[in-house]
Amino acid sequence: MSSSVFTRPFIPGAAPSVTATAPASHLDLSFLRQIVYEQTQNVLDPSRDYLFETRLSKLLRSQGITGLADLVASLQMRRNPSMERAIAEAMTINETSFFRDIRPFELLRKELLPPLIEARRHARSLRIWSAACSTGQEAYSLAMLLLEHFPSVSTRNIVIEGTDISSEVVQRASFGTYHRIEMNRGLPARNIVRFFTHEGEDWTVKPEIRRLCNFREANLCASTLPFSEPFDIIFLRNVMLYFSQETRRRLLSNVHRLLAPQGALFLGSSEQPADPAIWTANLSGGTCYYRPRRLA
Ligand SMILES: C[S@@+](CC[C@H](N)C(=O)[O-])C[C@H]1O[C@@H](n2cnc3c(N)ncnc32)[C@H](O)[C@@H]1O
Repeated sequence: MSSSVFTRPFIPGAAPSVTATAPASHLDLSFLRQIVYEQTQNVLDPSRDYLFETRLSKLLRSQGITGLADLVASLQMRRNPSMERAIAEAMTINETSFFRDIRPFELLRKELLPPLIEARRHARSLRIWSAACSTGQEAYSLAMLLLEHFPSVSTRNIVIEGTDISSEVVQRASFGTYHRIEMNRGLPARNIVRFFTHEGEDWTVKPEIRRLCNFREANLCASTLPFSEPFDIIFLRNVMLYFSQETRRRLLSNVHRLLAPQGALFLGSSEQPADPAIWTANLSGGTCYYRPRRLA
C-alpha cells in the first residue's frame, strides 16, 4: 500500500472507492459509504448522502473534527477501526415500533404458537430470535404476546434473543425504557398498564417481560451467526433491504440452518428470500411466513 492512500473493496452497485487524491466531496462521501458497507454490509444509496451531514454531526463534534472533509482526509491518512464502526452505527436505520405490522403477531397468536407450544410442552424451550432487533420493541412485543395469550407456558421455557449490530441500540433494548412517543406507536393501552412502569415520560418494561429477553451485539453478515441451538420463530424484518443480493443469499442460508424443521421465518413486508428454493412460503392472515425446506 502506498504511504497515505488505501483503497477499499467495491460496494455492489455503488460508486468506485476513492483515494485521498480525489477532489470532489461527492467522491469523499462514496468513501464513507464504503466504510458503512465494510462494517455492516448496508449499501447506502448516493441519493441519501445528505444524511451523513446530520447523522455524523454528534460524532464529529465529540471528536473535535470540523467537517466531513476532514473526517475523510484523516481516515484516508490512517485507518481508525473504532471511528469507522461509530460511523457505520450512526448511519444504520433504527426505525422500529411495538407490534410493528401487527399481522405476524396475530398469526403467531392464532395459528402458529398453539401447536408449537403444545409440541414444546415436554421438550426444550420455545426459542425466538428477533434478528436486527434495534431498540428492542419487537422482542418485547413477542414477550408480551406470550405472557398475555399463553399464560400456561412456564416463563422458564421461553427464550427470546434480540441481536443488533449497533451497540447503542442494544444498550437501549437492554434498558427497556421508552419515551411516551415510542409507547404511543402500536402498543395497546392494556399492555402499557400491565407490562410497564413509568417515571414522568419514560416507561420501563417490568421484570416479568425483561427476563424473557436477552440482548447482544451481533453482525448478521459475519461468517457465522452467534447461535448454535435452533429457533422456532425468527423475525428478520426490515434489515435485508439494506443488503446486496449476495449478502441476503448468504445470510438466509445461515438462517435456514438455525431454524427448527417446524419453525417459521418472518421477513419485512417488502422483503423476500433471496433463494426461494430452500423455503416454503405460506400465506395466511394477510401476511407471509417461511418454513425451511429440508435440503437433500
Ligand atoms: C429498520 S431496523 C429494523 C428493526 C426491527 N427488526 C423492525 O422491523 O422493526 C434495522 C436494524 O438493523 C440493524 N442492522 C443493520 N445492519 C445490520 C447487520 N449487518 N447486522 C445486524 N444488524 C444490522 C440496524 O442497526 C437497525 O437497528
